[in-house]
Amino acid sequence: MKVGATRYERVAALIEDQVQRGALRVGDRVPSVRSLSRHQRVSVGTVLEAYVRLEARGLLEARPRSGFYVRVPHVDRPPEPRFRARAAAPAPVGPAAVIVSVMEAAGNARVVPLGAACPSPELLPYRALNRFLRVAIARNPTHSSRYESSRGSEALRRQIARRALLSGCEIAPADVIVTCGAIEALQLCLRAVTRPGQLVALESPTYFGILQVLEALGLRAVEIPTHPRDGLDLGRLAAALRTHRIAACVAMPTLQNPLGAAMPLAAKRELVTLLARHGVPLIEDDVYGDLVYGATRPPAARSFDRKGLVLYCSSFSKTLGPGFRVGWVDAGRFTTEVDRLKFMSTVATASLPQVVIAHFLERGAYERHLRRLRAAFQAQTLRMSAAIARHFPAGTRISRPAGGFVLWVELPEGADAVALHRRALAESISISPGPIFSAAGRFQRMLRINCGHPWSPQIERAAATLGRLAG
Ligand SMILES: Cc1ncc(COP(=O)(O)O)c(C=O)c1O
Repeated sequence: MKVGATRYERVAALIEDQVQRGALRVGDRVPSVRSLSRHQRVSVGTVLEAYVRLEARGLLEARPRSGFYVRVPHVDRPPEPRFRARAAAPAPVGPAAVIVSVMEAAGNARVVPLGAACPSPELLPYRALNRFLRVAIARNPTHSSRYESSRGSEALRRQIARRALLSGCEIAPADVIVTCGAIEALQLCLRAVTRPGQLVALESPTYFGILQVLEALGLRAVEIPTHPRDGLDLGRLAAALRTHRIAACVAMPTLQNPLGAAMPLAAKRELVTLLARHGVPLIEDDVYGDLVYGATRPPAARSFDRKGLVLYCSSFSKTLGPGFRVGWVDAGRFTTEVDRLKFMSTVATASLPQVVIAHFLERGAYERHLRRLRAAFQAQTLRMSAAIARHFPAGTRISRPAGGFVLWVELPEGADAVALHRRALAESISISPGPIFSAAGRFQRMLRINCGHPWSPQIERAAATLGRLAG
């Protein structure tokens, strides 16, 4: 360290030294500003200054509400995708054959799974879940010999209500309706608050499953530009609310698929207030909320709701396994209607998966599992990000997700993501091309890459192949 270094330079050198020695590795969270200030006996401002300087030099990365992390060791890591705040005219949602091919590829073990957003089975607690399954069957051999209540297993609803406190929501077990995955929750909510032909405001890009539900219900989409880091553009949403008669808004404020964006807390509050002022229900999709990197998850938008206008949906698909098909909704003031629709559509969700998941949650194993899962996803996402930086053509841009396990990648001018998807499939690699995330078929140069699998030579080769095909 140079003689006469200022205090912040000394703190910065300390962190740099830890990185060089390998004590802090790529993706690790560095000590919090407060704790380092205590240990080094310097002011909080000094540590902050040191971290900001290290960030400017590309060594650290600040993540909103989460702290500072060691960055991928790429001096010239590709920039983030651009945010284009173009408004779109309301559009009917058309059929997308490409979605079918992405989902089919997800079921094919010979295809490298970079398309559908599915975590690797290796990362899921299937052994513990199987144990609970055996216990459930032994304890109650007649477990499926009657219809479960349309609202779902009481034990599971109690666990869901308890966990909702972690996202800042006060939910009573009686308010929870268990559904066949989050997708049924979203569908029931849309049916409860809209009529065919009406307009629904959506993030753009958005999860393609939501577009398919809109199509099935004969609804039209108003796509609201969504920033890769900060989420839904509230100015554009306010303008759309003034211009159109919007029946509902569907959004993922805590962790957006495919962008990985996390709305700041103040923006979440504003979103809830803005929609409430117009009397428009918010259907909040929080499937990825528990996967935000860091020690604690941010509050959901639902935590700001005072009018019962937020219908809060989630599931265990990304954390315990999509095959259980267990999701849930607290539909606020629409609970009676959603319950009625649930009964009319499938009577109830299958009993056995609910019992198994309730046991798992009761044992307190979920939080520990989530901590491990978040760390694995973060490391995998950073590895993929570095591989894309190495292999993809110049001009490629990569998102900096706040959590979860997908990357949103912008290819250089002239690229065609759907064509790339086809060429990649011919080489047994699946990706999700950008246009399936838009009702109007936007994002022709964008891709979503699934990073839900532990790093392997096969995935490294697939990244290299994709880079070659994209070049
Ligand atoms: C944002 C989002 N919402 C909902 C779903 C559907 O979840 P489930 O499998 O629980 O129906 C998914 C699945 O990929 C998703 O990504």
